[in-house]
Amino acid sequence: MDHKNARILGIESSCDETAAAVIIGGRVIESSIIASQIDLHARFGGVFPELASREHVKAIYTVVEEALQQSHLSLIDMDAIAVTRGPGLAGSLVIGVNLAKALALASGLPIIGVNHLEGHIYSAWLYQSGTTPPPEPQFPLLALLVSGGHSELVLMNDHLKYQRLGGTLDDAAGEAFDKVARLLGLSYPGGPSIQEAAHSGNPKAYDFPRARLKDTWNFSFSGLKTAVLRKVQDLQQSSRPLPVADLAASFQAAIVDALFDKTMSAAEEFEVKGILVAGGVSANQSLRKAFMTQDQFPVHIPPLSLCTDNAAMIASAGYYHFINKDLDDFAFDVQPTWPLP
Ligand code: KG4
Ligand code: ZN
Repeated sequence: MDHKNARILGIESSCDETAAAVIIGGRVIESSIIASQIDLHARFGGVFPELASREHVKAIYTVVEEALQQSHLSLIDMDAIAVTRGPGLAGSLVIGVNLAKALALASGLPIIGVNHLEGHIYSAWLYQSGTTPPPEPQFPLLALLVSGGHSELVLMNDHLKYQRLGGTLDDAAGEAFDKVARLLGLSYPGGPSIQEAAHSGNPKAYDFPRARLKDTWNFSFSGLKTAVLRKVQDLQQSSRPLPVADLAASFQAAIVDALFDKTMSAAEEFEVKGILVAGGVSANQSLRKAFMTQDQFPVHIPPLSLCTDNAAMIASAGYYHFINKDLDDFAFDVQPTWPLP
């Protein structure tokens, strides 16, 4: 079998997106289907785990079928099935993992359990079939992984080789966006709402703290969140409407500064050949601009459609495990809290 062009079916159901994708050679997207539950959870102001599992059950079969159909391939044309094993919501993960196991059993294909965070990193390798490939990230590579549940700074010396330099000591970057959005009366998910509100705001209106933890590659965002809360409480004493745009812009500026500065320092320290930014928060325009307008390091940030949860990234990470002969047996379980391996 030609491993280089291996075809991987990816399945993702760790949170509130049910997704499936077909990827060739680890990089080329033949299809990527995402059924989002965001609207359903918005009225609860966050993901409602029990509801999420039920929605995955309803959607997953059709999503996988559509991914295969759109790729004009069938299950027997695949070389392996890759599925998110964790981290994520246990009840949601199990839906994807069980379907992947059933499909693998029925087809005789190998199965690969993929770490969701690793998936986010591999989103930077992907491109749509028929389009020009983006430059391939070179090692050593520094990855800033910023999602709803994680904020990690990871040094990669090769494919699948992760050295965690640091991470958040409290809230994840996306979680901070979500919590501050709630404080400001903005809708879930908070990242896009804050970004939109910030458009018409002044990022210098409030000087929110940029926690600079010395001699560590860790982040901390709870002080920033509390500073926004205090300011909101102060401002609520007056009869004037809350200056939501200025608060959103000033908060966004503080969090982007903290992420950008620490990442740049680590990139210098470890003399990397490139910086990769991935995870839901990498969709943030202000964060993207900060990295794209520096010229010290090549930067790899996936297109917006691949920043938030999808299965193409899971299939891509799965491909690199596959060519490494790093397969799982059927006994593997979900791992709701699973750091980068
Ligand atoms: O990676 P992701 O889709 O799911 C997790 O693995 O957590 O990330 C979701 C997170 C949410 O916290 C959401 O508010 C944030 O990514 N996010 C953004 C933006 N779009 C999504 N944060 C800032 N700016 C955005 N444009
Ligand atoms: Zn994610």
